[in-house]
Amino acid sequence: MIFLRCAIGLCCLVVVNALSEGAARSGSSHDSLDLPSLGRENLSHRRPLNLKTFLFGAPYYPEHWDAETKKDDPERMAAAGFNVVRMAEFAWDLMEPREGEYDFSVFDEAIEKLGEKGIKTILCTPTATPPRWLTAKHPDILRVDENGVAQSHGSRQHCCHASETLRRCSRKITKAMASHFRNNPNVIGWQTDNEFNCQFSECHCASCEKAFQDFLQDKYATIKELNRRWGTAFWAQTYLKFEDIPTPRPKPTYNNPAHVLDYYRFISHAVAVFQHEQVEILRNANPNWFVMHNGVFRHIDYRGDFSKDLDFLGFDSYPFFDYSPANRPRSHAFRLDEVRALTGSFIVPEQQSGPGGQGGYFHDNPEPGELRLMTYRSIAHGADSLMYFRWRTCRFGAEEYWCGILDHDNVPRRRYEEVKQVGEELKRVGPALLGTSVRVDVAIATGDYSVEEGHIPLSLGLPSPKNVAAEIHGAFLDRGYAVGCIHPEDDLSGVKLYFIPHWSLFKPEWVPILEKYVRDGGVLVIGARTATKNFDNNVVAETPPGCLAELAGVQVVEYSKINRPEERRMKITLGDSSVQAPWWYELLSSAKDTEIIGRWEDRFGPLAEGKPASASSTGQPAITSRKVGKGRVFYVGAYLMRPVVDALLPMLADTSGIEPLCPGAAPDVEVVVRENDEKQLWFFLNHSDKTVTLSNAPAGENLITGEPCSGDLTLPRNGVVVIRK
Ligand code: GAL
Repeated sequence: MIFLRCAIGLCCLVVVNALSEGAARSGSSHDSLDLPSLGRENLSHRRPLNLKTFLFGAPYYPEHWDAETKKDDPERMAAAGFNVVRMAEFAWDLMEPREGEYDFSVFDEAIEKLGEKGIKTILCTPTATPPRWLTAKHPDILRVDENGVAQSHGSRQHCCHASETLRRCSRKITKAMASHFRNNPNVIGWQTDNEFNCQFSECHCASCEKAFQDFLQDKYATIKELNRRWGTAFWAQTYLKFEDIPTPRPKPTYNNPAHVLDYYRFISHAVAVFQHEQVEILRNANPNWFVMHNGVFRHIDYRGDFSKDLDFLGFDSYPFFDYSPANRPRSHAFRLDEVRALTGSFIVPEQQSGPGGQGGYFHDNPEPGELRLMTYRSIAHGADSLMYFRWRTCRFGAEEYWCGILDHDNVPRRRYEEVKQVGEELKRVGPALLGTSVRVDVAIATGDYSVEEGHIPLSLGLPSPKNVAAEIHGAFLDRGYAVGCIHPEDDLSGVKLYFIPHWSLFKPEWVPILEKYVRDGGVLVIGARTATKNFDNNVVAETPPGCLAELAGVQVVEYSKINRPEERRMKITLGDSSVQAPWWYELLSSAKDTEIIGRWEDRFGPLAEGKPASASSTGQPAITSRKVGKGRVFYVGAYLMRPVVDALLPMLADTSGIEPLCPGAAPDVEVVVRENDEKQLWFFLNHSDKTVTLSNAPAGENLITGEPCSGDLTLPRNGVVVIRK
């Protein structure tokens, strides 16, 4: 495991201090980030979260309100079924108004009043908003953008995680908070910072440059090795020493993709180190606290050290950033499944509860019932706790139009009533949920940091692996299949159909895993360009698809982009139908035991064989299938966008034996199953604009009403039913 050399010294310092404050968490390691919290040895997308209660509540900002306005808050929250709030993530200036002077009274009072109503508190380290006394005294802690411009004070996330000064001050405020609240029975856990890298991630300040050089030295040991692996022979980039390596700024033209990918790895590492220093202090102050973070954003490897340091991951869910009401259920569901694949489980510390507005945008308002529908979608797809952003809409600041449950005037209206309804229902649904995981019959590979970030510096204008995963996911979701996302190193047992969408960066170590999956009966679909690059972000010497060629039984003999598919017809014939390929084509040569499922109809396909463009049956192979053991491997020499997946889906469903969860329900009603060995919870979510009646739902207990349920269901628009079977 790589670890910043400069970080080790600092961490040890912190640990010594923190250890003197309390018992060390058993099993935690102080000289690396390899903490046991997530139980990575049992890595599984089916890993239920270990909370004993479903936490339900909202981020709360007592520092924004006078006594009169907030006096009814505990009562109203309790009436809405809240058992938790989250506080203090932006209140550094209040808690440490001058360097070394602390005042936690606003939070002491709020925590106590809420505690009297049975509402616990999750506190946050406030490091997303370092106070003005700090940036005025140390302007060098401000982040610097790619043009060399330092960020100014006045918004948030303006300081650099690699800055020694920020890290020192972060440890101090964390330690002060941890010591102050360590014995407060109403404080149950912590969130580190707030949405690391949400606004700004690529810093080029002097601290970053130095820390990046140290990171590279730790990784490569010798400058010769770095030059070899980065291919610095191209454009005279050879470095004589690590101290000469800059952070990559895309000026005047494109940077070396190996350099950029290592920089992205460094950013993630620097955040993980920054967070680790806080986590160690918190764990040592009170080993019973849980520690989580609310993501999920760019340039953080959430399957790596960052998340291993946490008890669980949080995902802030704002579905209304998708402005299309028709697509929103699909994009929301994909995002949840994608997040669940990162660590196997998650909570939602912020779920959109009203229209959000900042700067030049303002979202639609969730329509009546939609807030509740979105809540159940989050829960159905894996959220094991949920908080609404935010309790009350603030009257000032950059987010004065970011609407919470209560409006500016503090009057509870329909959004409050809807939240209250969910709170009531969760008394039955919450306990039933815990310990279950989401059923997945069809999965798409997602969540690999190097694969996804390696695509960025040399995308060729193609959709990212994650974008394509969303397309595949949507095709199966719309037809009612149990679809999810799983990294190839995770547990693939029980998954009948598995997609690797265009993972150009690929590890040869994944081949035996996939081969075993197929030999045991799984159906694997490999998309174009997969396994054409290594993890240094360089192209491999082998003919594509490189280390997968043997398993797939194909070789790619020619490839290129299709820049104007509407003008440059490139169709694939599949049985009696044909489909236009978007983005990309590959002409394949197949091994003897490989069947050709689809052929190129136009242009390069037939012409390359000297045949007229109409001779579709003789076009060159575009899609193949090979039987391996009890399963099958498909290779698709095109991009797996919706039209291609829609065309392939019936054949893939047939080959893999998957079936929709509740035939006839989709596309109006989304069906999701959470299960364990003892029970199944069936979620039915009507996201169409009409009332839908189903007669083939499972019989059981309707957890929304608490009544028995025979299998006949009527769901109004935005209606939700949860059946325990
Ligand atoms: C989140 C953030 C909150 C608030 C919210 C609405 O990303 O954590 O602090 O900004 O969005 O914009």
